[in-house]
Amino acid sequence: MLLSALVSTGLLASTAWAASLTQVPNYNNNATSKAQMWVYKPDNVVANPPLVVVIHSCQSTAQSYFQNSAIPWKSGSDGKGYITVWPSSPNSGTCWDVSSKQSLSHLGGGDSQAIANMILYAIAEYGADPARVYVTGGSSGAMMSNVLAATYPELISAVSLYSGVAAGCFVSASGGVDQWNNSCSGGQSQATPEKWKQVVLDMYPGYSGPRPKMQIWHGSVDSTLAPQNYNETIKQWTAVFNVTQTPTSSVANTPKQGYTTSNYGDFVQGIYAQGVGHSVPSNLTASEAWFGL
Ligand SMILES: *[C@@H]1O[C@H](CO)[C@@H](O)[C@H](O)[C@H]1NC(C)=O
Ligand SMILES: *[C@@H]1O[C@H](CO)[C@@H](O)[C@H](O)[C@H]1NC(C)=O
Ligand SMILES: *[C@@H]1O[C@H](CO)[C@@H](O)[C@H](O)[C@H]1NC(C)=O
Ligand SMILES: *[C@@H]1O[C@H](CO)[C@@H](O)[C@H](O)[C@H]1NC(C)=O
Ligand SMILES: *[C@@H]1O[C@H](CO)[C@@H](O)[C@H](O)[C@H]1NC(C)=O
Repeated sequence: MLLSALVSTGLLASTAWAASLTQVPNYNNNATSKAQMWVYKPDNVVANPPLVVVIHSCQSTAQSYFQNSAIPWKSGSDGKGYITVWPSSPNSGTCWDVSSKQSLSHLGGGDSQAIANMILYAIAEYGADPARVYVTGGSSGAMMSNVLAATYPELISAVSLYSGVAAGCFVSASGGVDQWNNSCSGGQSQATPEKWKQVVLDMYPGYSGPRPKMQIWHGSVDSTLAPQNYNETIKQWTAVFNVTQTPTSSVANTPKQGYTTSNYGDFVQGIYAQGVGHSVPSNLTASEAWFGL
């Protein structure tokens, strides 16, 4: 009687089977890093689904990022039927390790390798399309997005990152795991495009396959990660893609008032937000468009 009432009102179905964020305790992680894997598979997941890896900022976790109303990727997943994976940092303070040799090297054993293992698991276990794997993140998650693009380019098709620093900019001279780097955060770590390119190449020596296209967002009044980090990141990826640092096209007030979108060929796009501070709000429409979703 009660059961049939529940079924007829649809309550049972929605409470028992509605998709939710779920931890994957064993994702065949062979990294030293013990980062946690969480996954969200929407009710309407499509066949051979695209995968978006959403990487949280410091002081956050997979669960709190997922529940953060400013982070639009759950609704993107519901809207288009793709899977999202939400890594959770194992480090105190929950920043990502973007400073140690382990994390800044292909198969070095650090947090980047743990996240690479999550991608491989999602492909193997959920049938995620290996040709449509995308990475996004904010702040520390944006730094990790750059590091993943450098260390696991073979796994990723496109990246859209908000308010980060160039791959390798937060390096720790003493090799420490998860170290803050004042020179980089303050915008004093500056190098030529060729030097930044070499930093990327050195993270995966000998790699000559395809690389993810990069969309880089930054605010002009960011006081946590100085705006100069935007310029250094653009230098880095334009050099990796062998294109000039002069935009091939630049559009004012796009995607919104005060933002300028600059294209550097087809693989690098910068979006500079005038008057915006740290953590430029994620724009689901623009990031999905960059991913081709
Ligand atoms: C860990 O897993 C990756 C991906 O499957 C593999 O390429 C690598 O050889 C494994 N072992 C180590 C020690 O990294
Ligand atoms: C901070 O990073 C820069 C490169 O961006 C590096 O040269 C410097 O040694 C790092 N500082 C520390 C204290 O490790
Ligand atoms: C950094 O990039 C921004 C946005 O394109 C630009 O306005 C600024 O002049 C650049 N800064 C330097 C030092 O080149
Ligand atoms: C850039 O040029 C180098 C040397 O010609 C080449 O090995 C590399 O594959 C190119 N990179 C990209 C992303 O096309
Ligand atoms: C996001 O970008 C789209 C264009 O891709 C634009 O139409 C929209 O206004 C933007 N939304 C916000 C909140 O910036």
